[in-house]
Amino acid sequence: MPCILVAVILLMQNASAGPVYYKGWYHLFYQYNPDSAIWGNKIAWGHAASRDLVRWRHLPVAMSPDQWYDINGVWSGSATVLPDGRIVMLYTGSTNASVQVQCLAFPTDPSDPLLINWTKYENNPVMYPPPGVGEKDFRDPTTAWFDGSDDTWRLVIGSKDDRHAGMVMTYKTNDFINYELVPGLLHRVPGTGMWECIDLYPVGGKRGIDMTEVVAAASTNGGDDVLHVMKESSDDDRHDYYALGRYDAAKNTWTPLDADADVGIGLRYDWGKFYASKTFYDPAKKRRVLWGWVGETDSEHADVAKGWASLQSIPRTVVLDTKTGSNLLQWPVEEVETLRTNSTNLGGVTVDHGSVFPLSLHRATQLDIEASFRLDQLDVAASKEADVGYNCSTSGGTTGRGTLGPFGLLVLADARRHGGDMERTGVYFYVARSLDGGLRTHFCHDEMRSSHANDIVKRVVGNIVPVLNGEEFTMRVLVDHSIVESFAMGGRLTATSRVYPTEAIYANAGVYLFNNATSARVNVTRLVVHEMDSSYNQAYMASL
Ligand code: FRU
Repeated sequence: MPCILVAVILLMQNASAGPVYYKGWYHLFYQYNPDSAIWGNKIAWGHAASRDLVRWRHLPVAMSPDQWYDINGVWSGSATVLPDGRIVMLYTGSTNASVQVQCLAFPTDPSDPLLINWTKYENNPVMYPPPGVGEKDFRDPTTAWFDGSDDTWRLVIGSKDDRHAGMVMTYKTNDFINYELVPGLLHRVPGTGMWECIDLYPVGGKRGIDMTEVVAAASTNGGDDVLHVMKESSDDDRHDYYALGRYDAAKNTWTPLDADADVGIGLRYDWGKFYASKTFYDPAKKRRVLWGWVGETDSEHADVAKGWASLQSIPRTVVLDTKTGSNLLQWPVEEVETLRTNSTNLGGVTVDHGSVFPLSLHRATQLDIEASFRLDQLDVAASKEADVGYNCSTSGGTTGRGTLGPFGLLVLADARRHGGDMERTGVYFYVARSLDGGLRTHFCHDEMRSSHANDIVKRVVGNIVPVLNGEEFTMRVLVDHSIVESFAMGGRLTATSRVYPTEAIYANAGVYLFNNATSARVNVTRLVVHEMDSSYNQAYMASL
């Protein structure tokens, strides 16, 4: 069943590449195998474009593996927009000997806002693995930024060393043709393996910042109020990890704010299925947009049988959480709200412990749900030793019971009956005590009963999410047939699940509120459920 609310990318086999805004259009390039629904050695660049990040138009393949330097794959890369508006595209080619090299390409017709045709630079490749770097460990160049201190463009490339440390190298260039390796490493973290799809970008207050803008500012005023996010996609465990830190262009260093939460060992963008993501700076709305590849969690056999695989997540704005100062906030781009149709206000109810009740909705396969919960303060005070050591992934999910949780929603749940083995995906909070007696809030997705199909990886995913004094427990949940994307506490934590209901589909899909705590009552202070239109059918009309 294709997902239609999210940007549907049929046959998308992997990471996005080179997202860019150009002449009024957002462009997505992505790893695409024309021959199969699964990854292979003939990866090309698929291409789609949109005016609003929601309604997409599929375009012809942008680049195919047709040269000695990329014959084994046109792999991931990044776009850089030069001050005069020209686009430079850098990507990794896998050569005829499967060596990873960096290559250059340009729009064939810069006056074409749809960027349909691409020309590879005649003297590709422009970068080879440097001495000491494995020839299969050198990929995914970032967007370049201009460094005013020595008037060069800089970019970084991920790798690993022979001791399995993930690492980042910096290159500088004047012309995008000749590159010089900047001495030293920008960063390195032992034990984290190959770092794919590195991203490095500034975050500050509410608006997004372009890397060039901040590096220019840093060389004149210190740029102290800005932090730099470093992100890597871990080839070891296929999760996207990030950390906040300080970038020093002159010293070519990036230093994490908290060494215990360094890149690859601390924060993740998303606790579910979300990988090889990238950000880009959107000059039209002055925001930084993040999105990731959401693969399948059914079998490759099933993907081949259905003839397509993988989605691109809903694009998310990303800003620094100035309240905690220690994490990002991710939030669906505002354009998603243009798909809202019927909205139902169901808040103001109390859900007693051990209860489940259905929401009365017209359709529940494509939803945008906003919910806020408050625990009864007396119940919280009475729970002195609740569940120290709780962990989403080893917990019983929605069926586990503690004094202060789980409570939340069951989505893509069978509307005809509840209980037993009915299909449902749990989206919930679980409040536990930490060793020091304080409260610790977990936000989890429980996929364990999401489908009766038997070829699916089902887990409980999630982690601890900061909840500050006086804050309610809030979640926004986007549901679309086979994907659930949740944003907890204003986007401090996100979780994405692919789910494959066999019965909780179409008119039989429903949503329930539940509270499986053993003693706490939960007030649902706000619950707004928006039904969502399909973007897909409108896509061609809207973009013509
Ligand atoms: C990410 C990745 C990139 C590479 C591409 C190959 O999953 O492995 O490192 O460029 O996919 O398809």
